[in-house]
Amino acid sequence: TMRNELNHLANTVKDPKQRKAFEKEMDNFFSLFSRYLQESAKGNEINWDSVKSPNPEQVVEYSTLKGTDLTRDYLNKLAVLKLNGGLGTSMGCVGPKSIIEVREGNSFLDLSVRQIEHLNRKFNVSVPFVLMNSFNTDEATAKVIKKYEAHKIEILTFNQSRFPRVHKETLLPVPREADSPIDEWYPPGHGDLFESLHNSGLIDRLLAQGKEYLFVSNIDNLGAVVDLNILNHMIDTHAEYIMELTDKTKADVKGGTLIDYEGKVRLLEIAQVPSQHVEEFKSIKKFKYFNTNNIWLHLPAVKRVVENHELSMEIIPNFKTVKYHGESHNIIQLETAIGAAIRHFKNAHGVNVPRRRFLPVKTCSDLMLVKSDLYSINHGQLEMDPHRFGGSAPLIKLGADFKKVADFAKHIPSIPKILELDHLTITGNVNIGRSVTLKGTVIIVASDNNRIDIPNGSVLENCVITGNLNI
Ligand code: UTP
Repeated sequence: TMRNELNHLANTVKDPKQRKAFEKEMDNFFSLFSRYLQESAKGNEINWDSVKSPNPEQVVEYSTLKGTDLTRDYLNKLAVLKLNGGLGTSMGCVGPKSIIEVREGNSFLDLSVRQIEHLNRKFNVSVPFVLMNSFNTDEATAKVIKKYEAHKIEILTFNQSRFPRVHKETLLPVPREADSPIDEWYPPGHGDLFESLHNSGLIDRLLAQGKEYLFVSNIDNLGAVVDLNILNHMIDTHAEYIMELTDKTKADVKGGTLIDYEGKVRLLEIAQVPSQHVEEFKSIKKFKYFNTNNIWLHLPAVKRVVENHELSMEIIPNFKTVKYHGESHNIIQLETAIGAAIRHFKNAHGVNVPRRRFLPVKTCSDLMLVKSDLYSINHGQLEMDPHRFGGSAPLIKLGADFKKVADFAKHIPSIPKILELDHLTITGNVNIGRSVTLKGTVIIVASDNNRIDIPNGSVLENCVITGNLNI
């Protein structure tokens, strides 16, 4: 059985101290796994009739929040954490996503460090910067942050859990030993933050330093800077958990949303929605906002819910096919998301924030935006040019030739000016020269085996370019 196999794995750890930590991790995995089996047996569908739009106290408008005279006191109680367990694979990069270069030689990590250094200088405080790494990102991150040793910033790191992948057919763990190859393990999603923060001892360390609040965000969200109004609001309302949401547009209908479920706030993800209600879920009428994954936590509350085993976040089973020794295997990874924990905290609620707090870089199209003249950089913070009409970013769609960062950089070595661009589509083998300006709607399509070179200095405005063309 699973339990025997996990015991067997633990027995392969020789060092008694390491074994204890490993056993704790496997115990946590085992409760997740058991809960998964139970829930898949009894079915865990939500009751759609109980799903209501949140009321104004459950999602508070950002514009109603205020600052405080106690800023320094409050900042002294704050730590900032970036979720740094993920790799840059989806953008064709090796190593942690956080070390991808985003702007003027700065990676995601560098920009976050600049932001915190600026905050600390401005208010004469020392907000610690915490990274939750995974076994996939820990080593490379440690090397990169060495350069900050001489800086006046406290960088703390800890590792999230390493759970065994499970064979789909037999429901037994893939690894046979604690030091089996890394592709037999996985980091179980950002919902793992609570247990890992606790198991690593970091939560006690922060509490001992007088830190009571933790601002958590995805490392690839360049808009997630510390916001003093939200911190103040959190303290005022004695909220143990605050989720930042932002208005849904047609482009982000799939994001998780907050709902009122029998009088309490809950996160609702598309995967939990019965198929006949998916269209209703996507509509921007009933569910106006989506989760940015900017989350504010009250650390004593985190400690309490972990120690009392109060957390039971919805389990997201991730089914994959993985090659071991040249042979394909179907495996399951059981994951959880930090947003799902909201229902376990007191006075938990959402804040509807401006879009500028959600600037994620998931693709090279996003990368093109944040590298462009649309933004300037100010102490590690990206600010949109105030001349931008309407204050919203253009829609950029780059084809498969631009999926990897290296290919993107080869085709577009110098980012065109896009301040007046509304919509850009590029597919096929297209190469953009230097000092190009794009305005309005521009569509460039090179069909199979064709190549389009846009010469240096071109100005393209409201045009479609196709075929095999050298203009
Ligand atoms: P992803 O890039 O995987 O998220 O991770 P996503 O596609 O936006 O969707 P959700 O939020 O997972 O639904 C978001 C952040 O979480 C970190 C990543 O490094 C990234 O900063 N992460 C993810 C972890 O730290 N650990 C994990 O196990 C998974």
